[in-house]
Amino acid sequence: MGEALTVDSTLRCDVLIIGAGGAGLRAAAQISEQRPGTKIIALTKVFSPQKSHTTTAQGGMAAVDPKDPVDRSIFHMFDTWKGSDCSADQNVIKKVCEIGWEEVVWLERHGMHFSRTEEGRIAKRPFGGHMLNFGETKALRACYEADRTGKGIMDAVWAESLKYGVKFMGQCIATEILFKEGRCIGAIIFRYPEGRFLAILAKATIIATGGNTKMYLVSSNCRGNTGDGLVLALNAGLPVMDLEAVQFHPTGMVGPGILASEALRGEGAILRNKDEEPFMEHYAPTAKDLAPRDLISRAIIKEIREGRGLFHEGHDAHHVWLDLRHLPKEVHEKKIQEVCSFFKRFVGVDPERDLCPVTPTAHYQMGGIPTNEFGEVQNDTQGIVPGLFACGEVAAASLHGLNRLGTNSLLELITMGRITGERVIEYLKDATDPEEPSPDDHHMVFHQFSTYLHAQGREKYAQIRDKLRDLMMEKVGIFRTENSLLEAIEELRELKERATHIPQGTTSLRANQDLWQVWELNNLITVSMVIAQGALSRKESRGAHFREDYPERRDEFNYHTFAYMPKFGEVTLEKRPVDMSMFEAKGGHYELFDYIKREY
Ligand code: FUM
Repeated sequence: MGEALTVDSTLRCDVLIIGAGGAGLRAAAQISEQRPGTKIIALTKVFSPQKSHTTTAQGGMAAVDPKDPVDRSIFHMFDTWKGSDCSADQNVIKKVCEIGWEEVVWLERHGMHFSRTEEGRIAKRPFGGHMLNFGETKALRACYEADRTGKGIMDAVWAESLKYGVKFMGQCIATEILFKEGRCIGAIIFRYPEGRFLAILAKATIIATGGNTKMYLVSSNCRGNTGDGLVLALNAGLPVMDLEAVQFHPTGMVGPGILASEALRGEGAILRNKDEEPFMEHYAPTAKDLAPRDLISRAIIKEIREGRGLFHEGHDAHHVWLDLRHLPKEVHEKKIQEVCSFFKRFVGVDPERDLCPVTPTAHYQMGGIPTNEFGEVQNDTQGIVPGLFACGEVAAASLHGLNRLGTNSLLELITMGRITGERVIEYLKDATDPEEPSPDDHHMVFHQFSTYLHAQGREKYAQIRDKLRDLMMEKVGIFRTENSLLEAIEELRELKERATHIPQGTTSLRANQDLWQVWELNNLITVSMVIAQGALSRKESRGAHFREDYPERRDEFNYHTFAYMPKFGEVTLEKRPVDMSMFEAKGGHYELFDYIKREY
């Protein structure tokens, strides 16, 4: 027999942060600086925060310097709105773009080493869809630390959190959110090394678990990005928003899909087909290789489908080329050396001499747990859940709508981390210590873990995982149709059933890797189901969501998709209007914030 499942201790704190990446720790730093003495516990699924996915971010963080001679915040707001295919919330766009530069300054004052120009100013590089004068020409807007910007950000926010005594708990997952009379009072936590459950009771809880594209065969995400935070919300009966919007980054390294930063194209790299023709000018005559990601990813797949791609025997995968050979040696050595080293190590090509094989890679989840502009979690299309907050990639405020521009993610996680931290401080003013939950409150997690631990059957974890990855890539990937989605939904039901029959090598909870993996796999299948259902219901193409049977954007879908799935497969969908406050305010250039055409 295995060990009895029980919550064996309770910890208390003021703020529990589930996820210790860039957003969670920016919130932690804000709360600590503005309210010293706040007791914060930050959980991370990985061994230490420096292993968080934020650390892998390469290209930069978008922000407009108010002293910039040519760039303006309003251009950035417009680009973000247009980039989203008119589905981002304008109140959030305005707020985030307005404070972006303050956050660059904050990061620098907290030790981040932004790359600099010869004159000593913070250097900026162009990125897809970021333009001057409402779409005229490319803007220099991405502030960066060579090609390891995320690492610089994590160093800064982690150091600041440590300085104020934030308590970190590594190799932990939150398995269930706790509520008392509608208020969130913390979560049940599972500690992997000891195999122990504990309750952490908190006045405020922030979900900041990051992204989740590991259900796709080709993905730039870390292996732990399995949608855990989204499933926490869904299991609690809360909605998730716009999950159908999955971003494929055009340039993943052929094979596993490791990110080859857009910064490469920002520095002048060119996409070429099998005839070495630079094909992007046919798809986006103005922006070319710096068009938004959804357009370029579709263009690459079109080139491949029409016979102008290549096939990589070693990786059994189709691809196009990224050409960096013409870039100055100094650019290779100083600005993009890390990505170039990845090409050498993982693909066996030298970008100074060779063409580099690339293919679209699942990169980012635009949707997430819906929040208002302050990071407060919404429990329906109107109300909020007291005590529960979310920020970073797991959340959708929504800055990105159905398509995100490159470098707006680091911007969002840092600004929304700060804004959420500020809101938590407000909330703590009147928040009382939570009461003990009743033991019945943990039933869900114990039921789930018991099922996994005592599963009987012959199913194999890796087979189900591989099947999931293939099916999501083929049927719920860059191009979708009603048929492909209906097939995917049926197959997901089957996979879910099979995933509950994966036998474990042991019924011990301690460092049980099989158990951990099965839990993650179930989370991925759960999130995949919501993605597929959302995609099926959105009978149009918008941003990263492309339906071959409905290739146009349609006004009747000018809304966010709210999805609830308290029980696997039983999805209820609702609509939340897109915030159009910039358009409605009728201020300068307001007409550009209407449902405009999206051409590059
Ligand atoms: O291409 C990149 O460096 C990725 C940036 C982003 O996703 O924002």
